[in-house]
Amino acid sequence: MKNIKVSGRLLEVPASPIRKLVPYATAAKKRGIKVYHLNIGDPDIKTPEVMIDVLKNWKDNPIAYGQSQGQPKFLESLVGYYKKLGYSFVESKNIQVTTGGSEAISMALFAVCAPGEEVITFEPYYANYNSYSKINGVKIVPVLTKGETGFHLPDRKVIEKKIGKKTKAILICNPSNPTGTVYTKEEMEMLVSICVKNNLFLISDEVYREFVYDGKKYFSILEYMKKYPDKMILLDSLSKRYSLCGARLGMIVSLNKDLTDGVLRMAQGRLSSGYVDQAMAEKLTEVDDSYFKAVHREYQTRRDLLYKGLKSIPGVYLEKPEGAFYTIVKLPVKDSEDFCQWLLEKFSYKNGTVMVAPAAGFYGTPGMGKNEVRIAYVLNVQDLEKAIEIIAHALVEYNRK
Ligand SMILES: Cc1ncc(COP(=O)(O)O)c(C=O)c1O
Repeated sequence: MKNIKVSGRLLEVPASPIRKLVPYATAAKKRGIKVYHLNIGDPDIKTPEVMIDVLKNWKDNPIAYGQSQGQPKFLESLVGYYKKLGYSFVESKNIQVTTGGSEAISMALFAVCAPGEEVITFEPYYANYNSYSKINGVKIVPVLTKGETGFHLPDRKVIEKKIGKKTKAILICNPSNPTGTVYTKEEMEMLVSICVKNNLFLISDEVYREFVYDGKKYFSILEYMKKYPDKMILLDSLSKRYSLCGARLGMIVSLNKDLTDGVLRMAQGRLSSGYVDQAMAEKLTEVDDSYFKAVHREYQTRRDLLYKGLKSIPGVYLEKPEGAFYTIVKLPVKDSEDFCQWLLEKFSYKNGTVMVAPAAGFYGTPGMGKNEVRIAYVLNVQDLEKAIEIIAHALVEYNRK
């Protein structure tokens, strides 16, 4: 019998650099080793109680489909959220609820590009942009940013050089996963101006909007949306903001009616996002500001601890991340993927080891990021201290091999 083949394009979808070492971590745990997970941005912070109460008091039976655009009450809560941020021009009709920010990324790429068209983004970038561009037949054109400049943007001409006939959009993540960079007003204005001049969409993934440290001022794409309603697209998510990763809720916000109409037709094809999830999340207007203040304080403390701890390890290089809860770290190793696997397979210190993500998967250019890892500081302070101690000992032992 002839073997049936899956599609060539399926084979092109890359494995997530964040998840691909999971089998080694599982094996380490089976050997009784505690694995400190610095590989994935799944916060340990509690979901707001007002949301959990919805689940505790759930009565609706059966659990029905929701509406394709999103549940009206949830949409209203989101309008309230953007209004509180100062963007009262955002109305329900400008919002499409998605199944996580992940679906928002995929739908936005599908919406702005025909197969073979291009999107410029800044490497290192969120690795799943690779998956979603492959799924949608879109080509990612990377522009390199460097650790030494805190992964801030290069000159305008470096970016404009990458614009060709097939370029449809610039995609940014601000604050950035994986670098922790928060773009300045000047950088945002440069991007907006490049997009306006070259007739491109500017797509901004702002799922970490609340995670900006040291009182740094944050410039959302929403600042420019009213002036350039057809070109600005916001991708958003509740996963990190309210510790709702498993609720799978995100959104696309745009004033471009062709885009929101089209995206809604796509959304109709997948019927709806989670009905229970939205019922829970519509309580976001009742979440007290003290929740964010506590979460913010906690992450800034973790960031400070991680930065200081890692910087004190010989041969390790990083800039202080300005936002989100990630950082790209240069290590004194040749092949960080080998190091990450070795940590899980062969190493333990005080019966613990750490899982971090090799950074190569966050670059579009082959060969980049080979001596870097991405670290997510999603552990409490005590565990983070232990994880840093493990990394310090591991580097000594690994380099002695
Ligand atoms: C930059 C960025 N965008 C989007 C997402 C998607 O998140 P979700 O699908 O949970 O909303 C993530 C998740 O880690 C992310 O880091």
